[in-house]
Amino acid sequence: MSTEKVEIFDTTLRDGEQVPGCKLNTQQKLKIAARLDELGVDVIEAGFPVSSPGDFQSVTEISKLVKNAAVCGLTRAVKKDIEVAAEALQYARKPRIHTGIGTSDSHIKYKFNSSRSEIIDRAAEAVAYAKKYVDDVEFYAEDAGRTDNEFLAKVCAEVVKAGATVLNIPDTTGYCLPEDYGRKIKFLKDHVPGIENVIISCHCHNDLGLATANAISGVANGARQIECTINGIGERAGNTSLEEVVMILRQHPTLNLNTNINPKLLFDTSKMVSREMGMYVQPNKAIVGANAFAHSSGIHQDGVIKNRETYEIIDPADVGVTESAIVLTARSGRAALAYKAKKMGYNLTKLELDVVYHEFLNFADQKKEVADTDIHTIMEIYRKNA
Ligand code: KIV
Ligand code: ZN
Repeated sequence: MSTEKVEIFDTTLRDGEQVPGCKLNTQQKLKIAARLDELGVDVIEAGFPVSSPGDFQSVTEISKLVKNAAVCGLTRAVKKDIEVAAEALQYARKPRIHTGIGTSDSHIKYKFNSSRSEIIDRAAEAVAYAKKYVDDVEFYAEDAGRTDNEFLAKVCAEVVKAGATVLNIPDTTGYCLPEDYGRKIKFLKDHVPGIENVIISCHCHNDLGLATANAISGVANGARQIECTINGIGERAGNTSLEEVVMILRQHPTLNLNTNINPKLLFDTSKMVSREMGMYVQPNKAIVGANAFAHSSGIHQDGVIKNRETYEIIDPADVGVTESAIVLTARSGRAALAYKAKKMGYNLTKLELDVVYHEFLNFADQKKEVADTDIHTIMEIYRKNA
């Protein structure tokens, strides 16, 4: 059975950059955009051009730079926003305007003091207006996660009629359970006339730690674009993490879905974004965290030394990590110590290992982690006493 492509829409430079303290200058954004293009993302959301002169400049420069991906600018359903985005995107080889409006009752009442019918009109007008400037118009139904499905289908039907090429169904508040989010996508597929001609996009937030699971549920139910960020950065608890969804689709061929991403660049891209944004990656972060391929307990180390597959479902080299790490701690066993010592040039006999291991445990109990320099010290002590 042939696999279908899921488009990767990267919003590191827009939703990701909204994180407090993560502000980037234009040069930094250009550097990241060039890397995202090399990584193989299909769409780069470069910013929100009307929001500031700096963002306008960044979107303009990124549009000139990017060779392969579509470049996208965010707008509200406001004419001025759309005009400014179109101007910033004028040099892009593949420009996309991303316009939209809140559709949940909470957004309609508190943000817009409006009504459902007025929201439908504003949504369709915004899409039709953006179509005057570019062919590729993505519509977002903000807070779709908490929007009544019947009403959401009506909004979608109108924006599809107005010319939307992509329908973004954001779980803006990270509220949905994977099953509910998947059902929502399926409901739209079954109830929106003309939806077979547009791409449905998943844009999920991580307030309950479900952003990745929800995006996967979305594509399993027919969506064909995932909006995500490097390292999962984004508003509040963040967005769907790019590296996670890409590797999930690779590791689960039964889903029959693929992406255009070169996974070997994932680790390095994660480090680059972390460095440029000054945003540290949690060590236990899936795929790109410092501990994602590190083994510290004796049982696991023994298994991995015998065969990596015992405790690793991904070959670290596939995501650009040189090799799995064997971290020596007081929970490590003889196998790990012998393995590490051998790598450092000490070939220990079984008898020697017994003695050195005893010394190693004395050391390890005093420390969180036994470093290579400690191994040298332990070996010196052993040799003096031998
Ligand atoms: O989370 C959200 O709803 C968004 C939209 C602006 C696409 O980021
Ligand atoms: Zn968002």
